[in-house]
Amino acid sequence: MLLQNVHEYFASLDQSVQTKVTSEGTFMPSSTHDITLMLDTAMQLGIVRPEATFLDAGSGDGRSVAVASALGLRAYGIEVDGDLVKESRIHLQQLGLAGVVVAGNFKEDAAYDQMGVTFDQIGVFYNFANGVHPLAVRMSDQSPSGTVLLLQDFSEVNSPSLPLVQRVQRNHESADRVRGSLYILQKR
Ligand SMILES: C[S@@+](CC[C@H](N)C(=O)[O-])C[C@H]1O[C@@H](n2cnc3c(N)ncnc32)[C@H](O)[C@@H]1O
Repeated sequence: MLLQNVHEYFASLDQSVQTKVTSEGTFMPSSTHDITLMLDTAMQLGIVRPEATFLDAGSGDGRSVAVASALGLRAYGIEVDGDLVKESRIHLQQLGLAGVVVAGNFKEDAAYDQMGVTFDQIGVFYNFANGVHPLAVRMSDQSPSGTVLLLQDFSEVNSPSLPLVQRVQRNHESADRVRGSLYILQKR
């Protein structure tokens, strides 16, 4: 029910949501169905535990934080654009979800300090088309074995320490927006 509210809430926003160039990239929202599908699949595979800490690195309007929070994860987002951070907090509050979004740069420790979580405590990362390379390099260096990275484009990361564990076919709910697969990588 909570998850259904999240889908409906962001679907109603999608009619007016605009892409936006920010100081570090471009805001373009994910499908909440895609995020759900990736997290559900990773949980069914047993590689994301129900109490895991989730981070959307570049969290836009907070929708992935809302989905992860509705699924019971400890959910965080780091977003560089202050207006998107404010919007995210309003969305999370309206949905009654505990997810946290901080203003900052996910390449910098200060953002993790604000969350009160260290980089190596994050069990599952999500990044959609913005600056995944430095994140993948840092995961290779610092994340514990088993840490998961969710992506929409596998060609974005080519690291032997972050192999693909599952390619997920988009389901009909999101396939009307975007074609192709979703990708679950896991730190060796
Ligand atoms: C393509 S949007 C995706 C938003 C959200 N993850 C989603 O899937 O709906 C990428 C977002 O990442 C943010 N971003 C890019 N690089 C960043 C960085 N280094 N630190 C924080 N935010 C960043 C952009 O401002 C933008 O809002």
